[in-house]
Amino acid sequence: MNTVYLNGRYMAAEEARISPFDRGFLFGDSVYEVIPYFQGRGFRLQEHIARLEHSLRAVRIPNGRDWVAILDQLVELNGGGNLSVYLQVTRGDSGSRSHAYDAGLEPTIFACCTPVRDFASLPVAEVKGLAAIVTADLRWHRCDIKSTCLLPNILVLQQARDQQADEALLLRDGVVTEGTSSNIFVVRQGVIYTPKRSSEILGGITRELVLELADENGIQYQETDIDYEALTTGDEVWISSSTRGVLPVTSIDGQAVGNGEKGPLWARMFELLTRYQRKLMTGSK
Ligand code: PDD
Repeated sequence: MNTVYLNGRYMAAEEARISPFDRGFLFGDSVYEVIPYFQGRGFRLQEHIARLEHSLRAVRIPNGRDWVAILDQLVELNGGGNLSVYLQVTRGDSGSRSHAYDAGLEPTIFACCTPVRDFASLPVAEVKGLAAIVTADLRWHRCDIKSTCLLPNILVLQQARDQQADEALLLRDGVVTEGTSSNIFVVRQGVIYTPKRSSEILGGITRELVLELADENGIQYQETDIDYEALTTGDEVWISSSTRGVLPVTSIDGQAVGNGEKGPLWARMFELLTRYQRKLMTGSK
């Protein structure tokens, strides 16, 4: 059975009902998280919850739930294993459509799971190099908030798909920000470069882990601005997200990245992430 969580109750997905006057539906007045669980254990769960609380605070939606307990139980009810948990918190149901909101609204809380593949079980040789396009970043200036207003992300991803590409890399004021649902890294002469954390990008949980693993393993990195030239002349380009790990981008706007193959530093980072994930799955992390 596909069990979901809605406003304090666990129920079959078919039973879940949300009002058409919910502000999440009418205005995208809501925030979310996507948290993978591997072998029933949350991947960087505390970090994801901290980011959720940052988003809630930033948009002034009341917080104060035991998020870990809610999600752990949902995962258990869905049989544990490898699941991607989606959690959305909207400002609530205002009963009518009005831009202004009543601060006393009860938030709507919805969570569901979908199966996800653990990248630790994927042989490195089977990982496919991705094709990306570069396009304008149409989003607002608070991309650090994980808001469900994802229309710009959806439109540019479709633009990539229309050109047989897998991801769109976003350019704002001449610098690369991130992908439509991923952070970005460029490798040049053995050094990893990635945009610094700011309100123009989402503070990715896997981005943070990649930098932590680089630190622990003596791999140099720098958080800096990356322009189109630096992006397209790097030796390697990677994207990261919690559900996909770290993936190589082997072509950008139809041109090969480096020699057009998956790079050696990517393979090393993939292995480090895989090792981290295995530890998590066996309970030693
Ligand atoms: N998105 N940047 C954006 C714009 C994202 O939407 C995401 C993740 C990331 C990577 O963050 P993390 O490493 O914390 O997964 C970066 C999720 C997976 C989604 O929207 O489905």
